[in-house]
Amino acid sequence: MAFSAIDVIVTKRDGGQLSEEQIHWIVEGYTAGRVADEQMAALAMAILLRGMTPEEIAHWTAAMIASGERMDLSTVPRPLVDKHSTGGVGDKITLPLAPLVAACGAAVPQLSGRGLGHTGGTLDKLEAIPGLRTRLSTTEFLEQLATVGCAVCAASESLAPADRKLYALRDVTGTVESIPLIASSIMSKKIAEGTSGLVLDVKVGSGAFMKSLDDARQLATTMVELGAAHGVRTVALLTDMATPLGRTVGNAVEVAEALEVLAGGGPPDVVELTVALARRMLDLAGLSDVDPADALASGRAMDVWRAMVRAQGGDPDASLPVARETEVVRAPRSGVVTKLDALAVGIAAWRLGAGRARKEDPVSATAGVVLHRKEGDTVTAGEPLLELRTDDPDRIPAALAALQDGITIGDTAAPRRPLILDTIE
Ligand code: URA
Repeated sequence: MAFSAIDVIVTKRDGGQLSEEQIHWIVEGYTAGRVADEQMAALAMAILLRGMTPEEIAHWTAAMIASGERMDLSTVPRPLVDKHSTGGVGDKITLPLAPLVAACGAAVPQLSGRGLGHTGGTLDKLEAIPGLRTRLSTTEFLEQLATVGCAVCAASESLAPADRKLYALRDVTGTVESIPLIASSIMSKKIAEGTSGLVLDVKVGSGAFMKSLDDARQLATTMVELGAAHGVRTVALLTDMATPLGRTVGNAVEVAEALEVLAGGGPPDVVELTVALARRMLDLAGLSDVDPADALASGRAMDVWRAMVRAQGGDPDASLPVARETEVVRAPRSGVVTKLDALAVGIAAWRLGAGRARKEDPVSATAGVVLHRKEGDTVTAGEPLLELRTDDPDRIPAALAALQDGITIGDTAAPRRPLILDTIE
């Protein structure tokens, strides 16, 4: 049945509910180029302002899945479980997590994305490793899942192509921050990827899409329900993103930190979140009797990491690239770091070259921020607070400007916020 794009837009603009047929028609038409960008942009804005009912979100997600192929991972001889983070600053968790969960017996089919704006992307981080490929054929992907147990690579063009097109449009029309559109975007890709279980890390705070706990809870609940409706067992952790995760923000610097975690060390917050997410993933995979902390301590997770890097063409022993310039930011006074804002640090790393403004821009493997102090740490006047790294010194002033109001040193430490704020299942 054919509809008019204008009628669909006007229905949503005026607060009405779209039918299943209208939703499939418009998503299909947009993917095929019959519905124009400006019409879909108007509809996305109407959705952002008016919202969607649970039925509309379910139909929208189904239409996005139906726009492309659904992967068949049934030949993988291990329980399948994946993780998705809604994106944050210093969020390198996938790098230690995927090999860790694989080392515990599950298969992790991680189809990841690239960073946009101040949030980093897993593929950009991995590509800091000399030689590593993030484009794998379906045959390579399946073989690696069966042999190594995990693969972290780019999604093929045929996976939820409606989302690919719509996300690029939302990015330039101020329509990213819509809970129905974010939930359907993420879940359509994860359901089409073919995983059986999914743990969502929904970030909350200045460095995340969701600034408030209530919004994050609503997004998480919507995604958990979408997963259940499509036969993907889904659990969401709501985690703090008011301050960066770990001590590094950038590409090569985050890989180096992930390696520390795989070697049994690393910053406590990164280890805590990696192990907490691994436990949830192993529960969903029916492997709750395996302790991920053991697999980290014993070096089994590191062995899987090395096998994964090798399988994707990288050299696990190659040195990571290092930036030519370093600018140290020192504490202006003695005291306790009471604020180290995730968004400010994310923007600084982005301006140093670690991120991109448009999706076709290149990123620098070496640029980033290394934190010498975290929230709650004491510091003496003149000691280093953080380090800016870049190959292009002209970028340093803009990065410093981003940090201007992002760091506060006080007299007494604020109570520590928990890293894991809530769980939705
Ligand atoms: N990540 C996605 O994949 N989609 C969104 O809409 C937002 C974040």
